[in-house]
Amino acid sequence: VRAALVAGPLAGKRVLVTSGPTHEPIDPVRYIANRSSGAQGTAIAAALRDLGAQVVFVTGPAQAARPEGVEVIEVETARQMRAAVLAALPVDAAVFAAAVADWRVASEHLSKIKKTKGALPVLEFTENPDILAEVAQLPEARPRLVVGFAAETDDVVAHATAKRARKGCDWILANDVSPATGIMGGPDNAVVLISDEGAEVWPRMAKAEVAARLAQRIAEALMA
Ligand code: CTP
Ligand code: CA
Repeated sequence: VRAALVAGPLAGKRVLVTSGPTHEPIDPVRYIANRSSGAQGTAIAAALRDLGAQVVFVTGPAQAARPEGVEVIEVETARQMRAAVLAALPVDAAVFAAAVADWRVASEHLSKIKKTKGALPVLEFTENPDILAEVAQLPEARPRLVVGFAAETDDVVAHATAKRARKGCDWILANDVSPATGIMGGPDNAVVLISDEGAEVWPRMAKAEVAARLAQRIAEALMA
């Protein structure tokens, strides 16, 4: 009991966090990306660390400064992220905050694509592995608690509830990324926690506060 008080409620627990965008190469100089800054994932890793967890942080090429006191694994592509995540198992809990590119170019050009008069390049896409769904449905080594994110517009709760069922994860933190909310790229987040108990609306708060609240909930779930 004393050790737990000193070291925090997640002492002895190993938790994985994915964060940031992925970059999917087109050719040696070009890539497909998205706007994820990595801010929310980084804050979650720091909050879990603050509760005493041993954190493995798998991050794509994100802007946000890397959190201290955690194991940082840098990756570029969705396929590299998947490999790093599987290699980090087993963990007690996993939080998938990365904005993984849904598609990559089917055949990466090993030489730079050159301009040709009168011809435009055509890129063919193929789907990336769904890392969250794969980990949530692992027959063995599934983390006790698997948490995903869902950035949605329109009926956020309905979309996120369907996504939770489709992926097989325990919780989804859903947020409304409609331009009118001003959430995308800002300091705040407004999320709804979807679990088997339904939808719990959290008030709009700083991303660091969302992270602290999520870390607290993870600690409670792992202690139960
Ligand atoms: N995710 C993942 N691997 C992917 C795509 C998404 O691990 N290839 C994870 C994200 O980290 C997030 C969750 O799945 O935790 C939901 O991501 P999202 O993009 O909202 O879901 P998709 O299934 O890709 O559906 P869509 O983009 O069409 O809404
Ligand atoms: Ca997606």
